[in-house]
Amino acid sequence: MAVFQHPARCQPSVPLRFAPGYLKAVDNKLRDEITAWLEFYRDLGIEDFYRREPGSRSETADSKLESRQHPEPRIPSPDPSAKALRRQSSGASATFGRQAEPRVPTRRPERSVARALERRRPLGGRPSPESRAPSLSPPLSLSLFEAPPPPRREPETLEQVRADLGDCRRCRLAGGRQTIVFGQGNPHAELVFVGEGPGADEDEQGLPFVGRAGQLLNRMIQFVGMKREEVYICNIVKCRPPGNRTPGKDEVDACSPFLFRQIEAIRPRLVCCLGAPAMKTLLGIKEGITRVRGQFFDYGSTKAFVAYHPAYILRNPREEKILREDFETIREFLKSPR
Ligand code: URA
Repeated sequence: MAVFQHPARCQPSVPLRFAPGYLKAVDNKLRDEITAWLEFYRDLGIEDFYRREPGSRSETADSKLESRQHPEPRIPSPDPSAKALRRQSSGASATFGRQAEPRVPTRRPERSVARALERRRPLGGRPSPESRAPSLSPPLSLSLFEAPPPPRREPETLEQVRADLGDCRRCRLAGGRQTIVFGQGNPHAELVFVGEGPGADEDEQGLPFVGRAGQLLNRMIQFVGMKREEVYICNIVKCRPPGNRTPGKDEVDACSPFLFRQIEAIRPRLVCCLGAPAMKTLLGIKEGITRVRGQFFDYGSTKAFVAYHPAYILRNPREEKILREDFETIREFLKSPR
């Protein structure tokens, strides 16, 4: 069955609009619907429809070729549901021929769609032959308000992020590590802690914050009335930097996308940046941590908080009071209604 044979591609015979016998042969309702479709296509600048004379040479072979080159046109719909979109697009398959009844839409396409398509014409000009021909391309892109919303993406799971990380060799830290320290804790935690990078103990055990700094962090977690298993703990980089140095920019750039994805997978209420490198990576703040600690920031749809790194407190025990104050603030935040 020939579908929308473009004048440039076939020898025009009888333009459908002027085929007197054709429309008489169909009942009134069908005729109205075909007329509605013809008006709609005229609105789009598609004005000439042709059909082959019955029995014309190579009708079948040509038709097959044509329908492969020009599949049924898809009409974008303002209806947001994909189901409705499918329904309309199958309704839009206008097949004009002799042997079968034309398939026509059950309802007239929305005018706004026609107008949106109309706007695609070059200013003051008629549509080019290409724009008038049904095309193989996906539905024409409409404005933000007319296009259906993109399909919702299911959030990733931590397992998926971990699987994607694999046996990571994306940066030079891979060469010196024993283990990848991905993260540990509740995959649905309300509270996530982000440190800098694994140290020697973590590298050995494959778990974050299990050395001395980790023991202090455990105490602080208890201080806010939680258990370590209830929170999630991870780092900016997943491999130990040699000599426990601060990770380089290239290392952070390679690894931080996995941190962002971890946080997205967990969707916590609060992300606590432990130390300046975590603050800089997650919040882009370059100011000194002394001025920023104890404060909340927006981090997408969640909140972020900045606190001193426990290793810093171990080196400066007099600052532990400040760390406690900050953890008290965290406790109050988690007690507050969402
Ligand atoms: N320091 C960190 O930043 N992360 C760890 O996992 C351990 C120590």
